Amino acid sequence: MNHFDYKEGQFHCEDVPLARIAEEVGTPFYCYSHATLLRHFTVFDQAFREVPHLVCFAVKANSNLAVIRIFAKAGGGADIVSGGELYRAQKAGVPANKTVFAGVGKTHTEIEDALKAGILMFNVESSQELLLIDLVAGKLGVKAPVALRVNPDVDPQTHPYISTGLKQSKFGISIEGALEEYKNASKLPNIEIVGMHKHIGSQITLVSPFADALEKTLELVVALRDEGINISYVDIGGGLGITYNDEAPPHPDELAKAIVPMLKETGCTIVFEPGRVLVGNAGALVTRALFTKTNADKTFIIVDAAMNDLARPSLYGSYQHIVPLLQEAAKRKKTTADVVGPICESGDFLAKGRVLPEFYPDELMAVMSAGAYGFTMSSNYNSRPRVPEVLVHGATYDVIRKRETVQDLVRGEIIPAYLE
Ligand code: LLP
Repeated sequence: MNHFDYKEGQFHCEDVPLARIAEEVGTPFYCYSHATLLRHFTVFDQAFREVPHLVCFAVKANSNLAVIRIFAKAGGGADIVSGGELYRAQKAGVPANKTVFAGVGKTHTEIEDALKAGILMFNVESSQELLLIDLVAGKLGVKAPVALRVNPDVDPQTHPYISTGLKQSKFGISIEGALEEYKNASKLPNIEIVGMHKHIGSQITLVSPFADALEKTLELVVALRDEGINISYVDIGGGLGITYNDEAPPHPDELAKAIVPMLKETGCTIVFEPGRVLVGNAGALVTRALFTKTNADKTFIIVDAAMNDLARPSLYGSYQHIVPLLQEAAKRKKTTADVVGPICESGDFLAKGRVLPEFYPDELMAVMSAGAYGFTMSSNYNSRPRVPEVLVHGATYDVIRKRETVQDLVRGEIIPAYLE
């Protein structure tokens, strides 16, 4: 459920017509609903109330400080994958002891910063990383809390780019070698083994991959106990999918029903790392039609947002629903059109071959389900300033990130003296 809908003929986010924000802030812009973000967090958190747990929001899905803060205030933590995300999580007020750090390529500096901050645990992805963490912790005179990220070799049945738990992927430590790796870790002087981690992919719309991966991972928890290695945290990652078009992903309650009995058996605190399911359908990208045209037999609606603002359609061929802000427009004659941006690539599209009502220049539309991996994956390609982010709260809204200016585009660039 989300708080985007028509009221009195105008598409609203909560009680604010998006057209009003477009007028005041300009287009394109990302718009998030506070009520939806909070609701999604609460529903997820409540679904797992029967087990001691911690919901660590995957910051990569939406890194805006205000968004991270909403979840922190609701009791959540952060799942981070870089020093930059550590900085954001801390700045947004996420307690360090509710922060987990994954990623296959952590640097010396990132490890040092995370140790100094006092994070809950590193989700370690290789033997060499483990050695580096041991070394850095030794230099700082601290013990590094770690979980090993286990790769259970389970197909999440999602897009190949976002499948991470197959044995040929770069992520984690293969399940066969994991017990050995844990034993090695237990001998390192500056390492404290506290948990086990897995994450098999994103936009997963079935319960079975979660259950299968968990079953394999939990066998390992038992094997560890037999070796005298007792862990306190089982981190089952993120990955729960959302409805973009006609997908029917399990509700968090349905997922909980399937896996809570298994989770209970561990006797551990369960860490979750949801990203998309918390923020995806809590956000939209609002854009304005600039022109329409027909080339050969193809109709194009050219809008002011582009692949640099929302990369998912170009990158994954993903579907993002498009709605006209004016309800009347939805009743117009339908055409099949590509919705494209101003970028100089044919790969620049937000929708392809989509049946849409006719749009006229200057009319506004919302590209839905854009709250996850939308702004965070945006870039300045074609020297386009990144768009603002807006957070709606009831009948009011705040700009939570300003639109970049052309000056921002060249900030930090230097023309060497010999070129003057
Ligand atoms: N934990 C780890 C270790 C991850 O790598 C990810 C996502 C998550 C949690 C959160 O997964 P979620 O609950 O959001 O599915 N850019 C792609 C998605 C990439 C996901 C990467 N890892 C997209 O737009 O579909």
